[in-house]
Amino acid sequence: MFEIFSTIFWLIMKASWLMLPAYIANPTAVVFGGGTPIDLGKKWKDGHRIFGDGKTFRGLVGGTACGVVIGFIQIQVTSLSFLGIFTFVSIITLSFGALLGDLIKSFFKRRLGYERGAKFPLVDQLDFVAGAWLLTYAFDPLWFQDNFIAYPWIMVTVILFTPLLHRLTNIIGYYAKLKKEPW
Ligand code: CTP
Ligand code: MG
Repeated sequence: MFEIFSTIFWLIMKASWLMLPAYIANPTAVVFGGGTPIDLGKKWKDGHRIFGDGKTFRGLVGGTACGVVIGFIQIQVTSLSFLGIFTFVSIITLSFGALLGDLIKSFFKRRLGYERGAKFPLVDQLDFVAGAWLLTYAFDPLWFQDNFIAYPWIMVTVILFTPLLHRLTNIIGYYAKLKKEPW
C-alpha cells in the first residue's frame, strides 16, 4: 500500500516539476490579462469573434514571461535537477505553448458558438497541456523524448492530475476575484 502511494507521489512531483512553466503561464495570464484583445475585436466569417475578449496581448505576454522566469529559476535550482533538467528552448515552448493551446481552443470554442467564458469540460483543462506538449515536441524533440515520451506514466499523470489542479486553481482565482467563473 505504502509503495503505491509513494509511487503516485513521485509521479505527481515529477509531472508537476516538468509542467511547472506551463502551470504558471496559464494562471498568470489571468492575473496579467486585460486590455487589447488579440483578435482586436474582430469577427470571423460566422459573425462570432475570432478569439473573444478573454484572450489578450497582456495575458499572452505576461503569462509567457512568468512561465519562462519560473523555468529559469528551475534551471538554477540544481538540487532539484533529479526531477528533470530543462533546456532554454523547453521553458519557452512550455510557457508559450500553453497559452497558444488556450488561444487555439478559444478559436474553436467561438466557432462552436460558445460565448467567452462558457464551460467546455476537459477541453478547458487540457488545452494548455496539448499546446505545451506540441510546441515543445516541435521545437525541442530530444528534450520532449527524454522527459515525456520516455516516461509514459508521467504523461498519464499529467493528463489525470492537471484537470484536478486546474479546477482547484480556478476556484481560488474565482474567490480571489481574478476570474469571472469558477472553472
Ligand atoms: N486571459 C487573457 N489572455 C490570455 C488568456 C487569458 O487576458 N491569453 C485572461 C482573460 O481575462 C480571461 C481569463 O484570463 O477572461 C481567463 O482565461 P480563460 O478561462 O482561458 O478565458 P475565458 O474568459 O474563459 O474565455 P474562453 O471562453 O475563450 O476560454
Ligand atoms: Mg474559461
